[in-house]
Amino acid sequence: MIKLNEHYTEIGNSYLFAEISRRVNEYRNNHPEKKVISLGIGDITQPIAPAVVDAITKATAEMGKAKTLRGYAPYEGYDFLVQAILKHDFTDRGVAIEADEIFVSDGAKSDTGNIGDILGVDNRIAITDPAYPVYVDTNKMAGRKIELLPCTPANGFVPAFPETTADVIYLCYPNNPTGTVLTKAQLKPWVDYALTNQSLILYDAAYEAYVSEADVPHSIFEIEGAREVAIEFRSFSKTAGFTGLRAGYTVVPKSLTAKTSKGEILSLNAMWRRRQSTKFNGTAYVIQRGAEAVYSPEGQRQTKETIAYYMQNAKIIKSGLESLGLQCYGGVNAPYIWCQTPDNMTSWDFFDLLLNKVQVVGTPGSGFGAAGEGFFRFTAFGHKEDTQEAVERIKEVKS
Ligand code: MLT
Repeated sequence: MIKLNEHYTEIGNSYLFAEISRRVNEYRNNHPEKKVISLGIGDITQPIAPAVVDAITKATAEMGKAKTLRGYAPYEGYDFLVQAILKHDFTDRGVAIEADEIFVSDGAKSDTGNIGDILGVDNRIAITDPAYPVYVDTNKMAGRKIELLPCTPANGFVPAFPETTADVIYLCYPNNPTGTVLTKAQLKPWVDYALTNQSLILYDAAYEAYVSEADVPHSIFEIEGAREVAIEFRSFSKTAGFTGLRAGYTVVPKSLTAKTSKGEILSLNAMWRRRQSTKFNGTAYVIQRGAEAVYSPEGQRQTKETIAYYMQNAKIIKSGLESLGLQCYGGVNAPYIWCQTPDNMTSWDFFDLLLNKVQVVGTPGSGFGAAGEGFFRFTAFGHKEDTQEAVERIKEVKS
């Protein structure tokens, strides 16, 4: 008889967003006449920038001609995209990264989930709570021990250092789900902690394009010493609407090392390259051309306009909920608003109430971890009119 990876029995039957879609689909099937507004999963609603669409269209035409056809993409990404990333995301911002430290991929979800492949199972892991469920689920799948670092209003959503020294620490800023940030001054102690304890920080910066305040870093590599301790994950999903196109990248500095049980010191950059070339066959050429176009002047202008549109929604949600007396966080440097549920309701009870009474979907805070209980996440990725309507409907529930 086949033996199961038993760690899968420890992670519950379904992934958070799969469970939400199941419940929403069930509701829709039972109430086809009702218009459900989703401010749940952070998925895009605005068309992809014309500059990106044009680049993809052109690249697609190239695939139809023998002369310009491309087959397997390089495992680490085409040089045209790597160079564009390097220039715009790092060099122009004064951050020293080298081209062979950038690994283009099909998105930050895969990379944050797969990075554990190159890390030993006996590493002690620290993960903020609440957190994007991929970090906890994938570490549980591998059988690793996790210490959760609560992030609540009481600590201003700034996690305390782990009680037991952590080998690997997951940080996501701007944060999903709370929408809160760490300033450079607040992130520096984490880099110092990792330098002192020889820990690795896995820094998920998928939402960096939403940073609007000057003291909030776009990259952990803006912090001195981070090259010695951090891997950073970036995504084109939220930056430029690639949730369905799939592209992201991971920066693994060549200065990062890890040791084997025999005491050998090996490069994490070399190990990640080995992992990717074995299990991943590159991001599609046409998608990489689309990602390259994000960095063109028109691409930059168009994607920034879309981000501004979403952040307008964030304001609508935040001010609407605050006018009801609900305490809200985030929504300034991130497309998520994290709000306290009314009357101490549990997150799932509030989810059911909003879905059943006013057909508004959000994400229950407890789905992101125990410290998320009593909170609810709304995303700013909706259509403006729907977002306004959703807020008006929520006001009806409260009145
Ligand atoms: C979210 O809603 O947290 C994200 O959109 C999910 C994801 O990026 O996979």
